Amino acid sequence: MSKNWKYLSIALLAVLALSLAYAAIEISGGYDVAADTPHGALAFWLADTTRDNSVASRARGIIIPSGFGSDAQVKEGASEYAEMCAQCHLAPGMERTEISQGLYPRAPELAHDNDLPPAQQFWIIKHGIKMSGMPAWGVTHNDAILWSIVAFLQKLPTLSPQHYRDMTKDAAEDHDAMGHMPGMER
Ligand code: HEC
Repeated sequence: MSKNWKYLSIALLAVLALSLAYAAIEISGGYDVAADTPHGALAFWLADTTRDNSVASRARGIIIPSGFGSDAQVKEGASEYAEMCAQCHLAPGMERTEISQGLYPRAPELAHDNDLPPAQQFWIIKHGIKMSGMPAWGVTHNDAILWSIVAFLQKLPTLSPQHYRDMTKDAAEDHDAMGHMPGMER
């Protein structure tokens, strides 16, 4: 057997052994899926890299529509954000909600941790992220509404609590009519 074949066989055996070990953990129920136990370093790296590369490659062809970032669009996005996103992603002047404390992976606080390009944000908001709490809002909302939310996200890190409250007053009133808006300081 040539040297190359020997190395190839060793590599294949190693892959087989790893796959069997993985299957054994999967079938035996050995892997802990509890949301209150963090991933180990390897599982975290795998999940993180898979998500980042998947989103980046799928968002590549998305073109930002003309008129993106107009005042009217940002205002519309602000109410949508307050209604549908703030309970998990929080907002200026908001305390951590119960849902945001229990989520794993955590929902990033988009007022601080908001560095993805708009096309990737649009893709994530439209399609959601498997095996996390992030819903696919494209199932129930058209692209124009989703782009208004992306436009608002570009402004969110610059807003003071007062400014955020002013921009989302209409949405907060809608919520008061239905119940309450969790975590909002009044
Ligand atoms: C039920 C909770 C929940 C709601 C509601 C929710 N999200 Fe998320 N979102 C998450 C979680 C959890 C993640 C992290 C997923 C991950 O790390 O794989 C996430 C990730 C994201 C990301 C990627 C952030 C980054 O930098 O990696 C964006 C952007 C986002 N959400 C926007 C929104 C918007 C906009 C809305 C409202 C239309 C929304 N989300 C509603 C839970 C939620």
